Amino acid sequence: MPLPTDEQLLKLANDLLLALDHKFGVHPGFRPAHARGVLLKGIFTPTAAAPKLSKAPHFGRASTPVTVRFSSGTGLPMISDADPKANPRGMATRFHLEERVHTDIIGQSANGFPVRTGSEFLEFLRVAGIPAELEKFVAGHPAAKRFLEMPKPNPASFATEAFFGVSAMEFENVQGVKRFGRFRLDPEAGVKHLSVEELAGKGESYLFDELQGRTMAVPVGFRILVQLADVGDLVDDATVQWPETRELMEVGRLVLTEFYDEDAKMQQHIIFDPIPRVEGIEPSADPLLELRAAIYLLSGRRRRSA
Ligand code: HEM
Repeated sequence: MPLPTDEQLLKLANDLLLALDHKFGVHPGFRPAHARGVLLKGIFTPTAAAPKLSKAPHFGRASTPVTVRFSSGTGLPMISDADPKANPRGMATRFHLEERVHTDIIGQSANGFPVRTGSEFLEFLRVAGIPAELEKFVAGHPAAKRFLEMPKPNPASFATEAFFGVSAMEFENVQGVKRFGRFRLDPEAGVKHLSVEELAGKGESYLFDELQGRTMAVPVGFRILVQLADVGDLVDDATVQWPETRELMEVGRLVLTEFYDEDAKMQQHIIFDPIPRVEGIEPSADPLLELRAAIYLLSGRRRRSA
C-alpha cells in the first residue's frame, strides 16, 4: 500500500508520531502505541447472515485464516500488564484472503475515542502531562472528559475483554444495499474484569502468561458483531457512541488456537491497517481512518527497518 500524497495529512501523521515518541520515548523495533503485544493464529467462520450485510469475500466463504495481535496500551514495550495505564487494550485481526491479500479489523477495549480529529489528538497528547492545560482542553472537549472518566478496568484475560472498532464502516451486499456499522469483538468466555483487590495480586505479565496457558487448554473464541447505525446516527465521529439498543448483527466467529514461533520478528513485520481495503466494506468519512492508515504505515516501515 503506498502512502497518501496529501502533504497536510502526512505532516500531521509525522507530527503525531513525534508526539508519541516524545511521550513514551523511542523504542526501536516496537510500536509507538500498543507496543507490548503477542500474535496468535486462528480461523474465522462467518455466520449465514454475514453475506446479507457485505459481499466481502471472507463473509461468504466457509472459513478464512486469521492472525490476531493482542496488545496493551502505551508506547512502552515493557509496561506491566497490571498497570492501569495499559488500558485500553488492543485486538487487531488480519483476515488472510489470498496470498498477500488481506483485510483487518482494529479494535480497542474502550468504546469510543477522546477526540474527533487527528489535530485535536495532537493537542490532547501535548496537554496530557500538564494538569492546568489538560483541564482547559477538557473543558472545551466534552468527549475527552467522558473518555478520561470512562472506567477502564483491567481485564482478567485478553480472552475475557470486549473490543470495539470505534470508527464506522460502510457495508455493502451483492444487491447493492449499503449500511453503516461498527465492528465489535465479544469474548465467548464472557467479559471479566478485575477489581482493585484482584489486580493487586497480579504480576507483570499476568495477561500474556494466562493466554499461553489458556490457549493450550481451550481455543480462545470471539464473536464478531456489527452494531448497525439507524437513520440519523452520526457515522463519521469516533467520539459519539450509538445507543446500545441498536441492532447487533453477528457476522462470524474467531477461534484462536496457536502462537507464532517467531513472535517478536512477526510483530516487528506486521502492519495492521485501519482501512479495510476490501470490496463490501468501505471506510466511513470518519477523519481518523485515513490519517491512522498513514500513521500506521509510516510507523510500521520505521519499525521494519529498525
Ligand atoms: C489520531 C488517533 C490515533 C493515533 C495517532 C494512533 C496511533 C497509533 C500508532 C502510531 C500505532 C502503532 C502502529 C504501528 O506501528 O504499526 C497504533 C496502533 C494501534 N492503535 Fe492507534 N491511533 C489512533 C487511534 C486509534 C483508535 C481510534 C483505535 C481504536 C480501535 C486505535 C487502536 C489501536 C490498536 C489496537 C493498535 C495496535 C495495532 C497492532 O497491534 O499493530 N488507535 N496507533
